[in-house]
Amino acid sequence: MPKSETYSPLPPWQRTDYCGTLRASDAGREVALHGWVQTRRDHGGLIFIDLRDREGIVQLVLNPARDAGSHQAGAEARSEFFVAVRGTVVRRAAGTVNAELPTGEIEIAVSAFEILNVSPPPPFAIGDEDTAAEEVRLKYRYLDLRRPAMQRNLRRRHQALQAIRNFLDAHGFIEVETPILFKSTPEGARDYLVPSRVNPGKFYALPQSPQILKQILMIGGLDRYYQIARCFRDEDLRANRQPEFSQIDLEMTGPRPEDVQSVAEGMIAAAYERVLGVDINTPFPRMAYADAMESYGSDKPDLRFGLEIRNLTSAFTATSFKVFAEVIAQGGRVYAINLPAANQLTRRELDEMTEAIRTRYSMGLAWIKVQDAGWQGPIAKFVSEAERSSAAEIAGLKTGDTMLIMAGEPAKVRPILGDLRLQLGAKFSLAAEDDLKFLWIVDFPLFEYSEDDKRLVSVNHPFTAPHPDDLRMLESGSSALGARAIAYDMVLNGQELGGGSIRIHSRELQLKVFELLGLSREEALERFGFLIEALGYGAPPHGGCAFGVDRLCMMLCGTDSLRDVIAFPKTQKAVDPMSGAPSEVDPRQLRELSIKVTS
Ligand code: AMO
Repeated sequence: MPKSETYSPLPPWQRTDYCGTLRASDAGREVALHGWVQTRRDHGGLIFIDLRDREGIVQLVLNPARDAGSHQAGAEARSEFFVAVRGTVVRRAAGTVNAELPTGEIEIAVSAFEILNVSPPPPFAIGDEDTAAEEVRLKYRYLDLRRPAMQRNLRRRHQALQAIRNFLDAHGFIEVETPILFKSTPEGARDYLVPSRVNPGKFYALPQSPQILKQILMIGGLDRYYQIARCFRDEDLRANRQPEFSQIDLEMTGPRPEDVQSVAEGMIAAAYERVLGVDINTPFPRMAYADAMESYGSDKPDLRFGLEIRNLTSAFTATSFKVFAEVIAQGGRVYAINLPAANQLTRRELDEMTEAIRTRYSMGLAWIKVQDAGWQGPIAKFVSEAERSSAAEIAGLKTGDTMLIMAGEPAKVRPILGDLRLQLGAKFSLAAEDDLKFLWIVDFPLFEYSEDDKRLVSVNHPFTAPHPDDLRMLESGSSALGARAIAYDMVLNGQELGGGSIRIHSRELQLKVFELLGLSREEALERFGFLIEALGYGAPPHGGCAFGVDRLCMMLCGTDSLRDVIAFPKTQKAVDPMSGAPSEVDPRQLRELSIKVTS
């Protein structure tokens, strides 16, 4: 605790400048600064302190000949003490200029110095590097936030949102807030529930997205809506997933898919322009879902490098190699990735990769190397000359290349090869870091079959409009699997940034889709009756999209964790190490809520 007579909630003087903004052009000015002590060096007579605030660092010089009191107080200062300073900006002598610091041409000749608060030694250094374990960074998040990298990230986030708000405002979008205490909106995750004290035994669900509400806003005549919306999803967390996250959520009345896509491209381009000064070319290329799965084994392909998956099936239709022949007879396919001569794996790496795939997926991986003398590798001897030349042509094989081959059901094999492709891309650093490969994935299927639930599930969400040419397919569950949705996802460098669709605006069609999803009319009305009723009151055609703010900011900040762009994120276990949330509650609170904890 500083001395009580100096412990005032009001600083002794107001700040005139931020530490990090002072320059040689300020020389001669009297300034007042506030900041944290980064370092203190005591050179016998003179004390040098690096003082930090959100804009950066400036060097203070405390000279006993100038002000003895300041020099004495400065001697007490330690890392992360918060201090107030007055002094004169002076140019540094030629030999002492620090070219690494933006303020390195000047220093502050201190005339008054007061410690406003003290600090124990911080658990990690407040520097550019994140040297501490993530748990520690999150427990002392206020110290972590003082680091320049975090300051920069949060500021970029602010700039991105500011640019997007301006863009949407200029395009006629109206910001509307929607409730957090609401009813379950299905986006494929579990709900977070909130008990209602005044309605015992009843629960609100925190929104997984404002999906239904934004549709109702279109029925309500808003025409163009947007919101920076908080969403809550109780799902297994990964580096690019948080239990609560933000979306730039928007909806339009009467759009064609390209109208929504062009608004989305415009707002993402506005964010890139504002934050990084980068000019993004629009419109983005489109790729059909089926092509993405066929060539990249993923609906979010990273197009910064090649190594596409090749379908070699046609080369092996008459093969005598039993493994391939059996797979093809059962409707499977033979796929390969061609690794060019410049990026070769050692024999040991090939064996390890084969073993990893065997243990993880119980599937085989074959490889062949193209040598001057011909194909070499465990399966080479089973492949005829004609098959070799046909496969080589499909895969563009050259001498020195290695081909990694898998045969099986496309739904199984392609994602495995897709993962392998990403691993190889990372191993050989094939993706340039500053390359931005945006694209839209379009023509998603409306439904897929869930083995777990033994029924159709929505690929997107149940409010997605079927393609008008495929409406007849909705007559039965089996033909419905072939129906396309009018849905689209924006992908950047292998990350899904956002997605959306044109929605169902017909009451009957919505009920039909619920029925195909296994919801009876009664269940559908029970859960979504309010939407279905609203659709009946002259609902206009509508559509929109939502973008992950956190994911976008991750890309804008060049980090690979959402936690670097969220002020107070949660760990992989959905815990906040700083506050300890979630935590147990008072039994009285539970009684009031009519809740009994059973485990
Ligand atoms: P979707 O579920 O695809 O669509 O979500 C849209 C975008 O939100 C981001 N996102 C997440 N970000 C961080 N952590 C998470 N757990 C998380 N989950 C999703 C992603 C994703 O692309 N209502 C629809 C949109 C629409 O149809 O308009 C929806 O929510 O960047």
